[in-house]
Amino acid sequence: MGQLDGKVAIVTGAGRGIGKGIAKVFAREGAKVVVASRTPATVASVVAEIEAEGFIAFGVVVDVSNKEQIFNMVAETVKKFGTVDILVNNAQGFGTAEKPRASTIPTPMEDTDDAEWEYTFRTGATATLWGMQAVFPHMKKAGYGRIVNFASGSGMEGFPGNTPYNATKEAIRALTRTAAREWGKLGITVNTVNPSLKTDAWNNWEANNQEFVQGLKDKMPLGFVGEPEEHGAPWVVWLASKGGEYVTGMTIFLNGGRFMN
Ligand SMILES: NC(=O)c1ccc[n+]([C@@H]2O[C@H](COP(=O)([O-])OP(=O)(O)OC[C@H]3O[C@@H](n4cnc5c(N)ncnc54)[C@H](OP(=O)(O)O)[C@@H]3O)[C@@H](O)[C@H]2O)c1
Repeated sequence: MGQLDGKVAIVTGAGRGIGKGIAKVFAREGAKVVVASRTPATVASVVAEIEAEGFIAFGVVVDVSNKEQIFNMVAETVKKFGTVDILVNNAQGFGTAEKPRASTIPTPMEDTDDAEWEYTFRTGATATLWGMQAVFPHMKKAGYGRIVNFASGSGMEGFPGNTPYNATKEAIRALTRTAAREWGKLGITVNTVNPSLKTDAWNNWEANNQEFVQGLKDKMPLGFVGEPEEHGAPWVVWLASKGGEYVTGMTIFLNGGRFMN
């Protein structure tokens, strides 16, 4: 028996990195997984990988900067699987709509670009809000829902050079707490994860901030940066499972002990 047997889960940004790891592990735990991401080829390949393991997946190409596409992602899910029990708001855009980037580039706050601020916010906090609004009627009707939103230690601790990213990630934590309070009585839990995990975004960010990131790694008592499937996804499975029903509004740190509270 899997921890997510029979549940229907949408994972945004599941084309690679943390989202892909979560999608694969969710499927192994018995969920019917909607692999929702921007690039059609990666959506198709993650679906194929899950199916090759003998599990159930359905691909939806979505750009989370677009409200209509987010609502369509949820509508497609309900059409295919009848409902949606779990939403992981993991996708996050960087750069601008015209020139997306693989991660943030260190920029002093006083030089923050309006277009980058707007796109980072739209693909972060705004997309997270739209996703939660789109799944809410289905979760309310079922009296059951698990929402996991992705924020960042960068926002919480105010890493320099990351103004739009920090602001949108902290807004996501505020959205999480607000939804957790409003929807708790309906059986819907809402939590945030602040990860430090080896992905393309991590590698790009490290390449642009070598000394700073080395300093962060030096502060990890466990001494390594975790992997999405091995060290990230199991926690998200637990948050999304029946066993997670007493935890809401929280920020969970997946960071090798670098930041403790
Ligand atoms: N890795 C870390 O240590 C770390 C630390 C702090 C926070 N986070 C947060 O954790 C989440 C996942 O990070 P990651 O490291 O796995 O990122 P990643 O390696 O950059 O992967 C991001 C995924 O999201 C998709 N995506 C980007 N923009 C999108 C959009 N507009 N619409 C739909 N999908 C989009 C990408 O699709 P494409 O393949 O089309 O590019 C990709 O599949 C993000 O919210 C990130 O901010 C990560």
